[in-house]
Amino acid sequence: MVELTLPKNSRLTSGKTWPKPEGSNNIKRFKIYRFDPDQSSNPRIDSYYIDLDSCGPMVLDALIKIKNEIDPTLTFRRSCREGICGSCSMNIDGTNTLACLSGIADIKKEVNIYPLPHLPVIKDLIPDLTNFYEQHASIMPWLESKNSRPKKEWRQSIDDRKKLDGLYECVMCASCSTSCPSYWWNDKKYLGPAALLNAYRWIIDSRDQATDERLDELEDPFKLYRCHTIMNCTKTCPKGLNPAKAIAEIKKLMVERKL
Ligand code: SF4
Ligand code: FES
Repeated sequence: MVELTLPKNSRLTSGKTWPKPEGSNNIKRFKIYRFDPDQSSNPRIDSYYIDLDSCGPMVLDALIKIKNEIDPTLTFRRSCREGICGSCSMNIDGTNTLACLSGIADIKKEVNIYPLPHLPVIKDLIPDLTNFYEQHASIMPWLESKNSRPKKEWRQSIDDRKKLDGLYECVMCASCSTSCPSYWWNDKKYLGPAALLNAYRWIIDSRDQATDERLDELEDPFKLYRCHTIMNCTKTCPKGLNPAKAIAEIKKLMVERKL
């Protein structure tokens, strides 16, 4: 018989509420998912109160403030603080996004923060991205050319270079793939929007000479065709990219090469 209960230790419990800062009238509550793999206890939601008058404007600023001044055990990834490295992706107020690009003022009530959904959690807000990176590696994210290496750069016309706009800006944050129900259900077989957007970035690069091999690799009922155009990917991308369109373009190329 199918077991419909959640796995052991997956139920959320209420966690610790940290004291409010004194002497401020500009306080915001942050409710944050906590999970410690070294404890046998279930994940919990801790509440922190931040004086916004002494905090930077972004959600990442609040997380850094919590870690520096309230609770050094809070764990999250971050590096650039500029939306470039892609490491601070998490679910904020119900949306997968980058904490360093999310304004605290844009969230009207308390701020709810969880790790990216449907990935194993390593600790607190840090998901395990091993499968995500393996899928990225599988699309050969590099230039394949049979020509001998030029003395300087591989040249490209201005028009051909323009075709890469809206693709090369991907920071591999995984917000899109982890917002996609098809990816939740088939994350080992469906490549997901991020890997496919990057696959398309190399497929249409005028300097690349492995287009057929790349398309052959994607001609698969799961890798590409598990996309059902749900569009969560495009809606959530914090860089304003359109993975759904890139996937549609690959499907179009698949049809065109058969004609
Ligand atoms: S397409 Fe957007 S959401 Fe997806 S990995 Fe790239 S930057 Fe992140
Ligand atoms: S810290 Fe680099 S994208 Fe947010």
